[in-house]
Amino acid sequence: MDDKAQLIIEGKTYELPILTGSEGEKAIDISALRQENGFITLDVGFANTGSCKSSITFMDGEKGVLRYRGIPVEQLAENSTFVETAYLLINGKLPSEEELTRFSVLLNDTSLVHEDMRHFFESFPRGAHPMGILSSMVNAMRAFYPEIPERSEEEEINVTFTRLLSKLRTMAAMSYKISRGHKVIYPRHDLNYAANFLNMMFDSPVKPYYIDQDLVDALNIFWILHADHEQNCSTAAVRLVGSARVNLYAAISAGISALWGPLHGGANQAVVEMLSDIEENGGDVSPFIARAKDRKDPFRLMGFGHRVYKTYDPRAKIMKKTCDLILRKLKRHDALLDIAQKLEDVALEDPYFIDHNLYPNVDFYTGIVLRAIGIPLNMFTVMFAIGRLPGWISQWKESMDDPGWKLQRPRQIYTGLKKRDYTPMKKREG
Ligand code: ACO
Repeated sequence: MDDKAQLIIEGKTYELPILTGSEGEKAIDISALRQENGFITLDVGFANTGSCKSSITFMDGEKGVLRYRGIPVEQLAENSTFVETAYLLINGKLPSEEELTRFSVLLNDTSLVHEDMRHFFESFPRGAHPMGILSSMVNAMRAFYPEIPERSEEEEINVTFTRLLSKLRTMAAMSYKISRGHKVIYPRHDLNYAANFLNMMFDSPVKPYYIDQDLVDALNIFWILHADHEQNCSTAAVRLVGSARVNLYAAISAGISALWGPLHGGANQAVVEMLSDIEENGGDVSPFIARAKDRKDPFRLMGFGHRVYKTYDPRAKIMKKTCDLILRKLKRHDALLDIAQKLEDVALEDPYFIDHNLYPNVDFYTGIVLRAIGIPLNMFTVMFAIGRLPGWISQWKESMDDPGWKLQRPRQIYTGLKKRDYTPMKKREG
């Protein structure tokens, strides 16, 4: 039997239910508070507010733990593929061999993008950021792929999932090719998900692309590490928009827009920009550390700090290892890696970063891995979006299936003017 919390307001005691999650985390259920006594709770930025119950991803920010459906992300990065991890997140279990084959075949069957969508792509200005293009295109998918009334709701949802997972990757590569004025490369039936993406990105009629298994493995790890992260900004956006019962494409489009921000998914691009800036300024990290510590300066050390992790982000550890491995295998040296390492060493010894619990997050090393794969800078956040898609889908699905589902609609504390009368134009001052 769960305990109750007692809240005393103006001398009156209210009992509030305490909920306990499967990993022991506790919450006070305040949902009936306003009804009982007119009070709401205020938590700007939702740093201490649970918006849902979820059985998908567990993270412990103090211990640096991340698990999808109970499985540590380290084990998935070591043994799984992105497609298998996507299946796990969406369906709640690892697939059998047959299920995985069926899923892969479906992904392959749905990988082509409607030809009319290509014209759409071609109409965006060349300099447009691919994240803006991607979120518009995903929203537009409902128009190109309308619901088929003969299909059951479950069939429709399953087709939509696979279609999104497969086509987002095709559209990402397509937007890159079009932005360069190059011929679009179609998906190939004989290639797996990650290899197919690399081929669509880099193959050309005049220079065939050689698919390097090490790069395919690195890409799988990158996507697995990004596949879900419980109620982060973009996932919360997907759930919130989805709670209005919009179609899945519209909800995912909202997630892509949220991810675009430099404080969220856009950080991987911002990290490389910052490291390049340090390099161009002679490679000395100390002025950048000083700026990050200066409260009057809005500059922040990109790739450092996290709302939940107050220790080293477990994904950053894996990314760093992958980064070393891939550069060694490619026999390539990246000066930005040296700078990143120097920055990390200095920051981890600095009292400001120690006191603020600021450690490298997943984005700190991912940019260097993406550069090694050959991904251009403005596509970094798109890569994150492809990776996060299974998480968005599974969180959306969970919220739709939740018997306690509710339209998400936060409250506020109004701080504006009290009631006043409308002033006709002629009587207004100034
Ligand atoms: N560099 C310098 N100082 C920082 C940094 C940083 N990267 N991050 C946080 N701080 C400081 C703040 O200035 C603040 O200091 P103060 O208390 O002395 O005023 C304190 O740490 C707390 O900062 P908040 O912004 O309140 O912490 P929050 O939990 O909201 O921030 C965030 C998390 C947004 C990720 C932040 O750490 C940040 O801006 N990091 C850089 C951007 C980044 O790498 N984003 C990627 C996050 S991972 C992801 O989304 C995939």
